[in-house]
Amino acid sequence: MKIKNLVRPEVLDLPTINAPEVSHGMIRMNANESPSSPWQKSKAIPLNRYPPVRPNSLTQGMANFYVVKKGEILLSRGSTEAIDTIIRTFCNPNMDSILVSPPTFDMYQFFANLNSISIEEAPLKAENNFVLEIDDLIDAITVKTKLVFISTPNNPCGSSTTINDITSVLEAVKDNAIVVVDEAYIEFSSIESMIKEIRNHENLIVLRTLSKAFSLAGARCGAMISSAEGIDLLKKTAPPFSFSTPTINHIESVLSSNDIKANNRHIKNIVIQRERLKKSLLTLACVDKVWKSDGNFLLVRFKNTNSILNALEENQILVGQIKNSDALKDCLRITVGNSEENKKLIEAISSII
Ligand SMILES: Cc1ncc(COP(=O)(O)O)c(C=O)c1O
Repeated sequence: MKIKNLVRPEVLDLPTINAPEVSHGMIRMNANESPSSPWQKSKAIPLNRYPPVRPNSLTQGMANFYVVKKGEILLSRGSTEAIDTIIRTFCNPNMDSILVSPPTFDMYQFFANLNSISIEEAPLKAENNFVLEIDDLIDAITVKTKLVFISTPNNPCGSSTTINDITSVLEAVKDNAIVVVDEAYIEFSSIESMIKEIRNHENLIVLRTLSKAFSLAGARCGAMISSAEGIDLLKKTAPPFSFSTPTINHIESVLSSNDIKANNRHIKNIVIQRERLKKSLLTLACVDKVWKSDGNFLLVRFKNTNSILNALEENQILVGQIKNSDALKDCLRITVGNSEENKKLIEAISSII
C-alpha cells in the first residue's frame, strides 16, 4: 500500500515549505527580520531572527531518542497539534471519516469536527472494563474511514491495546486507511511501542509526546513517527517556523543533559504513587470503582460525585471531570500527584464521609 494514495489531492500538490540553511557569519537579508535586538536592558536572549522552518537539530535528537531515522519523525507542538495535522493531511472535508473508540481523548473528535470530517464510533464497553475489543473496531470500519485513532494507554480509561491487536487493524484497513496510535502515556505502562512497526506498515503513524513522562508539558513538543513517505506528506501540512528558539534550546538542553536515568526513576515513582493512590482510594466507602490504569492517572467512579467535587473544590484540588459520557457517569479522572498531593486528595475525600 502506498500512503500517497490516501492523501488529500490538494495536499499532494502543495510545495514543501523550505528556507535556506543559515550558518554563522552570513548576512541575513532574506526574511524581513530585524537586523538586531534593541531590547538591551532585557536579560533574555535576543530573538530578532526566525527559528528554522523545522527544528532540524532537535528533530535529530528526538529521532535518536526514539531510535528512528530523521526522515521518519516530524515534530509538532504537542501531540494535540499532530492530530490536527494528520486529519488535515489525509481527510477530505465533507467526505471522509475518522474512527474512534469512546470514551477516549476528545481532541480526535474536536479536530475532525473543526475540519468537517465525520466521526464513526466503536464504543468501549463498561462490561469489558473499557478495554478496546479489536473485533468491534474492525467491524466499525466503513468505506469512508480514513483514519483509525487508537489511544494506548487510553485517556481517560487507562487500558492498553497490544501490538497484535493493532496489527490486526492495520491489516484490516490495509489499502484504505491509516492507523494512528497515540502513545502519549506509554512510558507509564509495560506495553511495547508500535514505533518498531513503522517499517512494516506504511499506513501507521505513532504519536509520542514529551508532555507526560518527560515532564515537559509547558514546552509543547510531540512527535509523529511514521514511514519516510508518510512524514514527507505530513511535512507539507505541518505549520512552518512553529517551534520558538527558546523552546528548541530548552528541549535540546534537557535531551542532552544525560539525566535520562533520573527521568526513568521519576516515571517509576509515578507508577508506584499510582498504585498507592489506587489502594488508598479503594479503602474509601464513597469509592465505587477504580479501573486498572497504565497511565499517570486513575479513572474513579464515586457514589456521591457532587459532594466529592465540592470537597475537592473547598481544598483547592482540581481533578478531571468527564463530560458528555453516559458510560462514565459519576467518574472522575485523577492525575497522580506527588505523595503530598495524593495524601491531601485522600484527606479531602475522607473529610466528607
Ligand atoms: C491520549 C492523549 N493524546 C495526546 C494528548 C496531547 O498531549 P500534548 O499535546 O501535550 O502532547 C493528550 C493530553 O492529555 C492525551 O491524553
